[in-house]
Amino acid sequence: MAVSTESRHGMWSSRWLFVLAAAGSAVGLGNIWKFPYIAGENGGGAFVLIYLACVAFVGLPIMMAEVLIGREGRQSPINTMRALVQQHHRSPAWVLIGWMGVLAGFLILSYYTVIAGWALYYIFEMASGAMTGASGDVAASTFNDFLADPWQLLFWQTLFMAGTVFIVARGVIKGLETAIRWFMPLLFVLLFVLLGYAVTTEGFQQGWDFMFAFNWETVSGDTVLIAMGQAFFTLSLGMGAIMAYGAYVPSSASIGSTVAIIAGLDTLVAVAAGLAIFPIVFANGLEPGQGPGLMFVTIPLAFGQMPLGALFGTLFFVLVSFAAITSAISISEPALAYLVETYNAKRSRVAISLGVISWIIGIGTVLSFNLWADVHIVGERTFFDFVDHVSQNIMLPLGGMLIALFAAWGLPKTVVGSQLGLQKPWVNVVWKLLCGVVAPLGVAVVFVATLFG
Ligand code: TRP
Repeated sequence: MAVSTESRHGMWSSRWLFVLAAAGSAVGLGNIWKFPYIAGENGGGAFVLIYLACVAFVGLPIMMAEVLIGREGRQSPINTMRALVQQHHRSPAWVLIGWMGVLAGFLILSYYTVIAGWALYYIFEMASGAMTGASGDVAASTFNDFLADPWQLLFWQTLFMAGTVFIVARGVIKGLETAIRWFMPLLFVLLFVLLGYAVTTEGFQQGWDFMFAFNWETVSGDTVLIAMGQAFFTLSLGMGAIMAYGAYVPSSASIGSTVAIIAGLDTLVAVAAGLAIFPIVFANGLEPGQGPGLMFVTIPLAFGQMPLGALFGTLFFVLVSFAAITSAISISEPALAYLVETYNAKRSRVAISLGVISWIIGIGTVLSFNLWADVHIVGERTFFDFVDHVSQNIMLPLGGMLIALFAAWGLPKTVVGSQLGLQKPWVNVVWKLLCGVVAPLGVAVVFVATLFG
């Protein structure tokens, strides 16, 4: 009973291409850069387990909800919501989900491109052999010197943004399909090479314990809020990115199993990245809680000590850059598709305008690591910390909660039933319970607890 069975922006040529595209969106800096450093800052074990619970009980149902809504509407999130509220006589206020997603997308893309620029820089740093045999101190000071130079950061940010705009301008489907087919599997292989190395270091046991030993004392309301924000971020949820991609999914694909595969792959990469990084931290006397630079110090250090490390290290950062670009593309898709639909504008022109706006906001993040390091917005936060916190820990969970509520209670049973293939009544009950109660309530409880905790 879909509004339409095709999207004007094109369609994934099979269910597997959607899996790859959504996994390409999900797997990115969130897994390899963010997850280890946030886990490190928040005490490890307890954080990791709460995060895994958030992925399972909040992330999975919301991802299903996004795909379902997207495929039902077959347009950009804003226009999809518009069409659905009209068709089913719901309040137009639900369309705010789409608008908030677009705003969150600008904010996330603005700093995402800055950090991805660091990965680009490290391609050359590794290739030059400068990290070969480097000590922990050298690796740390290389990174700190780089951060201290706003022009360097600006240069790499600009390059990455230009690359994103270039791909996005050609269309997600065309731009993505070939790239993802090759790079995702390669990234997995390299990550497991790194993991293999980490197992041989004397820090492995300590790294393992750090990630999996549950310790109640380190848990606070904030820990849970951050873990939940990370679950949303890493699965690309809450802002309509997966909803936008869902619009291009063939009607025959099963949503439940597809989503489970995507979330599974994403979680695997995050856990593997953590298990590769923390042993290196402990073996070299580094700090697990050192913040955003964690991966940029530990990974070059590890490759610097391996045979053929310069080669593998270069390749690793190439792959991280690709993982990041396949994510960046998805962050811009909701806004892009909306503008193309609404103004009948050319994709390429819209892509450039979006890129420029986000690039300008990103300069604030560039400066957060040097000239504006002491400029604080609301409490102790730098510009980067602030944008990151508001988008990841507030906007995404809020958006995700509304998406879940709409999918569970806003859409008629017949629509949901045909989208999810729910023939048996008990499956429908489970769905209502998870997507309509557990997931949104989970988000609400965490919000309230943090406000008062
Ligand atoms: N999930 C990606 C990562 O982990 C980032 C990302 C892509 C994203 N699309 C998103 C985050 C939409 C939030 C919302 O790197």
